[in-house]
Amino acid sequence: NQKLQGRDFLALADYKKEEIDYLLNLAGYLKKQKMDGISYEPLKGKTLGMIFEKSSTRTRVSFEAGIYQLGGMGIFLSSKDIQIGRGETIADTAQVLSGYLDGIMIRTFSQETVEELAKYATIPVINGLTDMYHPCQVLADLQTVKEEKGPLAGVKLVYIGDGNNMAHSLMIGAALMGMELIVVAPKGYQPDTLITEKAKSLAENHGAKISVMEDPEQAVDGADVIYTDVWASMGQEEEQAKREADFKGYQVNEKLLSLAKSDVTFMHCLPAHRGEEVSKEVIDGNHSVVFQQAENRLHAQKALMTALMG
Ligand code: CP
Ligand code: NVA
Repeated sequence: NQKLQGRDFLALADYKKEEIDYLLNLAGYLKKQKMDGISYEPLKGKTLGMIFEKSSTRTRVSFEAGIYQLGGMGIFLSSKDIQIGRGETIADTAQVLSGYLDGIMIRTFSQETVEELAKYATIPVINGLTDMYHPCQVLADLQTVKEEKGPLAGVKLVYIGDGNNMAHSLMIGAALMGMELIVVAPKGYQPDTLITEKAKSLAENHGAKISVMEDPEQAVDGADVIYTDVWASMGQEEEQAKREADFKGYQVNEKLLSLAKSDVTFMHCLPAHRGEEVSKEVIDGNHSVVFQQAENRLHAQKALMTALMG
């Protein structure tokens, strides 16, 4: 796909519905190829630098294994070990890495850092999570919802918990794909108002419906998918106790699941805290697709790398 080659992937809002559809179809195709044992190496000889300023299990391993499966190689760059950690600028780092690599994935705190890196890099930059967005996760999540529910348009997804990076990317993704999405969060933890407005205006043009509420029981009525994420994200560890108190009543448990559709799917980007945002029975029960979601990170990001770096 010519229109995706060389592009950055910083936020889902930068992409059109048709482009997301293309990536999801490619992800499904690559998943099948892998299951059939067929090797496909469109990125032979290419390299991806992977900068991490925060911890990761899924993002790191799925990108590194993914680029290898596509014929290329990933280079893990902990910000503690590269010169960024000693004050070298993002702009200089971007220009230096552009001379060696074919793509950069970065996980960091501020969305501006990712944008700065993309501004100075001459190769595709992929957002591997910021405090604002987690677009790679949502790409894999859309693939998972499609596998479970068929066409995305009209699917009702209820996100319960913190109005964080996951909530933001889910709102934008759902808006683009014509879904119905409700974010349920207590006051003080609702998603960013500018991003909510952006999602609502995208929704208007895509037949989607985005809303923010406070009452979980009311929201899950008729839900096809219930999604949650941790109450304290990376970087908010010291707020853990306060958040546990503030999110009381927002746990996804069997009682809440029983108020949704009988075939409701439970999703979580992981890592999870059993007994906090989700009960053990729900995340380990038969509505849960959390490991399918985690696996789809591999397939979705292989599609992304193939399209951007191929
Ligand atoms: N879901 C997710 O991004 O997991 P990691 O933090 O392990 O990469
Ligand atoms: N909201 C979580 C997602 C982790 C994948 C965090 O930012 O820590």
